[in-house]
Amino acid sequence: MQTAGPDPISPVSEAEQELLRRFDARIDEGGFIEAKDWMPEHYRKTLVRQISQHAHSEIVGMLPEGNWITRAPTLKRKAILLAKVQDEGGHGLYLYAAAETLGISRDELLDALHRGQAKYSSIFNYPTLSWADVGVIGWLVDGAAIMNQVPLCRCSYAPYARAMVRICREESFHQRQGFESLLTMMRDGTQAQRDMVQHAVDRWWWPSLMMFGPPDSDSTHGAQSMRWGIKRMSNDELRQKFVDATVEQARVLGVTLPDAELAWNAERGHHDFGAIDWDEFRRVLGGDGPCNHERLAARVRAWEDGAWVREAAQAHAARHAEPARSATESAR
Ligand SMILES: [Fe+2]
Ligand SMILES: [Fe+2]
Repeated sequence: MQTAGPDPISPVSEAEQELLRRFDARIDEGGFIEAKDWMPEHYRKTLVRQISQHAHSEIVGMLPEGNWITRAPTLKRKAILLAKVQDEGGHGLYLYAAAETLGISRDELLDALHRGQAKYSSIFNYPTLSWADVGVIGWLVDGAAIMNQVPLCRCSYAPYARAMVRICREESFHQRQGFESLLTMMRDGTQAQRDMVQHAVDRWWWPSLMMFGPPDSDSTHGAQSMRWGIKRMSNDELRQKFVDATVEQARVLGVTLPDAELAWNAERGHHDFGAIDWDEFRRVLGGDGPCNHERLAARVRAWEDGAWVREAAQAHAARHAEPARSATESAR
């Protein structure tokens, strides 16, 4: 295994060095690490950060599309959108549960989100201006999410990898429903509907490319995560894969991707594409996107409005635990 400088918490005792040696060997063999296994503190913290950011992205990601549930054009589209937004809530739950296996509580993670200290995917800080945005989010945003997430099904941390297998199956449905909804508008819709789709593609294309994170040359956590088998492909590799897959889909839909430099490069065997506005990415990630305040306020409000449900559930659980406890005690 290559090493990239010392772990911030270097093992001190011989016993710890032996544990680290076994951990490294397991990673090198392509094996999995379970919650009960010893792991370096830096590995644990990296996973807590990544899994919780992912969980937060799932539940904040419910908001832009949830905005359109009451205005879906047909009962069929409403049922599909309801199911999709509910799936995203479920993804958040699997992921918070996976993070909890690393010794952190869900309350702590949510508290960091509500205080504005935790990050989530910057894409969800953009507004959904028309019904076409719902289709484009499914096609491009869920499409980019799948590209990012399929390699995570082989992540070295087994509880995360297992959660990702189920999530990826559902993301694939999300991507298809988005594409199908856009295809219906492009093929059977009016000119105004086709324009609406193109306008939505123009707005979501570049933020979708930003979903893969900063370029490999600027990625702070990338190299270490690759070495630990948390990440299996780099940001730039995944972004390229996404562009290559999406160009043909855009052609089938009959939409134009808003990049004059997008062109097939036979020599590389990939599409070249224009420069991404990384200043915009940093601005939105840093809290200054079009909807950052609105998204966070909606999450905090949901948490506060749900307090009575959590309290009632705990009171109910306590009441049910009591007769069982007194029955055990009287049997002694
Ligand atoms: Fe999801
Ligand atoms: Fe999704």
